[in-house]
Amino acid sequence: MSISAEPLVSYLRQLQAMGQTHVSVDDDARLILREFYMRARAGNAAVVEKEAQSLPVRQPESKSEVKFSETPVEPATLAASALTVSGGNAREKIENLRQQAEKWKPARDLGSLRQTMVFSTGNPEADVMLVGEAPGFDEERLREPFVGKAGQKLDNILRAMGLDRKQCYLSNIVKFRPAMSNQTTNNRKPTKDEMASCMPFIEQEVSIVEPKVIIALGGTAAHALLGCDLAVAKMRGSFHTFHGIALRVTYHPSYILHNEATSEKRKLWEDMLEVMGFLGMPVSDKQKSFFLTK
Ligand code: URA
Repeated sequence: MSISAEPLVSYLRQLQAMGQTHVSVDDDARLILREFYMRARAGNAAVVEKEAQSLPVRQPESKSEVKFSETPVEPATLAASALTVSGGNAREKIENLRQQAEKWKPARDLGSLRQTMVFSTGNPEADVMLVGEAPGFDEERLREPFVGKAGQKLDNILRAMGLDRKQCYLSNIVKFRPAMSNQTTNNRKPTKDEMASCMPFIEQEVSIVEPKVIIALGGTAAHALLGCDLAVAKMRGSFHTFHGIALRVTYHPSYILHNEATSEKRKLWEDMLEVMGFLGMPVSDKQKSFFLTK
């Protein structure tokens, strides 16, 4: 199926000329519109039509009201323009970003995030970039993403793929642990505002690392990257794109920690097999059969 933006744009302009200010779109349409928008913003509108063909086409799941303005600008985009990166190679650029994140005003001004900044870990020139939601208690203590129980699960998954965390680039959408009252070891999901405030960093990280594939770990990270509210079960099973880079959504390792069912482990593992296939990694019969019930 080929999707051209032109008829859509002129139709929306007609509606606007008639005084209409809102249209209803479902989450799948939002994914496609977001791709158009991101590509146009990157000055690469020519490839939109081609890439739109590979986007998943599903029956509408839910309806939501979306306001269209003449020049759509997301909060993260506004903040991104204040973020300029210096440095020669990828490692220096990531280090420069890390320093800027320490005092990042849009995040600090929210007043809902804790003080300690946790940036990223791993290889800034990796083929595989993994993105989680936000640091938790353990990550804040060690100032490194994915070092708690979920991180250990992630290490096991990577090992089963024949990778380790040093070969990959691991980061989070939000660079500070979300605060709670009377907080001890308990963590909470970041809010939309918290994620929007830190989006410029993940956008810059992607453009510096230029991975071959991004793995969004869990719904929260996927929602921030894809700009939708679909369930993980709906987003997994096909490749999406983020700034033109292939993106696979899978379950958060902590979901697997809390749901030990073999069928759920197999779903996550099937996503990883797809990633391995996409990267041209060898997949043994033993790897193919992990978590298959006889
Ligand atoms: N969960 C995440 O999403 N990120 C971390 O760094 C740790 C747990």
